Parts: sequence; structure tokens; C-alpha cells
Amino acid sequence: MAEIIDGKALSASIREDLASEAKRYEEKYGRKAGLAVVKVGHDPASEVYVRNKIAACDRTGVRSFAYELPGDESEERLLTLIDKLNDDPEVDGILVQLPLPAHISEKKVLARIRPEKDADGFHVVNAGGIMLGLPCTKPCTPAGIIELIKSTGVSIAGKHAVVVGRSNIVGKPCAMLLLAENATVTVCHSRTLDLASYTRSADILVAAVGIGRFIKGDMIKPGAIVIDVGMNRDDGKLCGDVDFREAEKVAAYITPVPGGVGPMTVTMLLKNTIESAFRCRED
Ligand code: GUN
Repeated sequence: MAEIIDGKALSASIREDLASEAKRYEEKYGRKAGLAVVKVGHDPASEVYVRNKIAACDRTGVRSFAYELPGDESEERLLTLIDKLNDDPEVDGILVQLPLPAHISEKKVLARIRPEKDADGFHVVNAGGIMLGLPCTKPCTPAGIIELIKSTGVSIAGKHAVVVGRSNIVGKPCAMLLLAENATVTVCHSRTLDLASYTRSADILVAAVGIGRFIKGDMIKPGAIVIDVGMNRDDGKLCGDVDFREAEKVAAYITPVPGGVGPMTVTMLLKNTIESAFRCRED
């Protein structure tokens, strides 16, 4: 049976260190590190994610500034808000929850956030930095995935890592971070022919497909590390992209859903915000 990689426990221990860092920042500079969280409209998943992020800030000693804009907010007004947050000395990190309503250009909005305040690591400057291996803000989910893999104690270097999914938020940056850890990386996606032939050779398998229980036990190499990024609803119940019951019989390590990648994403967001707060004082 696979060992469970407990994302909640790992998050809790990292958040303890982050809370001390947040306190150190507050004592040194006389105010809390601050994160602005912007939500436009009422996407049900976004409501939950944003609530979790704000609660995590409060518990860690990071000040949150919540902006809940109506679904018909204009792109221009959203860009003006970002300009204001860019110039606000109390705001160290800015996060615009995705997806945005169809009438707003995600590309334009993400490009407007100052790269130094880009808590999500989605700005083109940070995306480019990851590609070139420069110091930059790393996207939260991929950064959390690397921490989860490292927590097993299994070395990443030289291993075959297969990432299923090629989104800008997870798949692509995750592949780059695994490459930076010296894995041999394969990126698969919805158009990959004979997907199982790739997943079966993965020492590390990252599933970010967005389809519930898509990765079956016979698609997994015995002894693999399986990271499940999925957050799918099945009859109101949360389930991952991996068929957990089958996979746990084959894999050596596996993340559960919930309690795996999700908490680590929020933890990395706190880390990015606190680092950004220190960086803008110490540069
Ligand atoms: N939507 C889904 N995941 C994310 C994330 O990590 N950050 C933001 N801003 N939006 C998301």
C-alpha cells in the first residue's frame, strides 16, 4: 500500500515557519506583510479558494485586503484597481483569482500586476524567469508539488517525471521546476496518443488533467510517486484526477484529495507574499 503524502501536515509545519517570518517582518517594519486578493464575479470554486486564502493569511499573520468585484465589472476599472494596489505601500502581494469573466482579458490583467508583487507567479516576467532558471516568484501549485515530492525523501534527480496537463498555471511551470531538479521530464496532454505508455514509465507522475479519477491503477508504474492536482466534483464530493483506491495499491507514495496539493498551494502563496514583503525592503 502506498504511503500517503500528507499535504495538510506538511503545510502546517511550513506555515509555522512562515508565521515566525511574518512576525519578524511586522516587528522589524511596524506593519504586517499584506496580500490583496481580487475576485471578480461569483464562480463557486473561486469563492471557496478565495475564502481559504484569506483565512490562511489571517492565521499566519499576513494582512489580507479582499476586493470582491461584481461579475459585470469593466476591465478598465479592474486595471485601475491593480494600478492602485501596485502603488500601495501596504500591499506586498497581489492575487487576481482566475478564471475571470469572459469580457475581461486575463492576459492584460496579469500583465498589469507589477512582477515584484505578483504573488501567483503568473506575470510573463516570472514565467520567463522560471524558464531561464532566474530568481523569480514561482507559481504556487507547482512550487507546492516540488515540496510534496521532496518530503518523501526520494531524490528527484535523474528520475522520469511525467506531467499530465499543460496549463500555464500548473503543467508547464511544474515541468520547468522538475527539470530544474534534474528530472527527465515528459509533458503529456489531451492530444497525447497512448497516454498510458508514458504514465506507466513515470517514476514521478503529476496528474493535472481536470477529469475525475482519470488515472487508473494500471496506468501507474509500481513504486511511483503520484501527485494528484485534481479538484473535481463527483455527486457533490471532491475527487482527484487519480483513481485513489486503485492507485494506492500500485504507487509507493500518493497525495490524497483533499489534503494533498490544495493546502500546499495556499502555503506557497503565503511564502511568496512574505518573501515579496522582505524583498521590497531589502533590495
Ligand atoms: N484559479 C485556479 N487556481 C488558481 C491559482 O493558483 N491562482 C489564481 N489566482 N487563480 C487560480
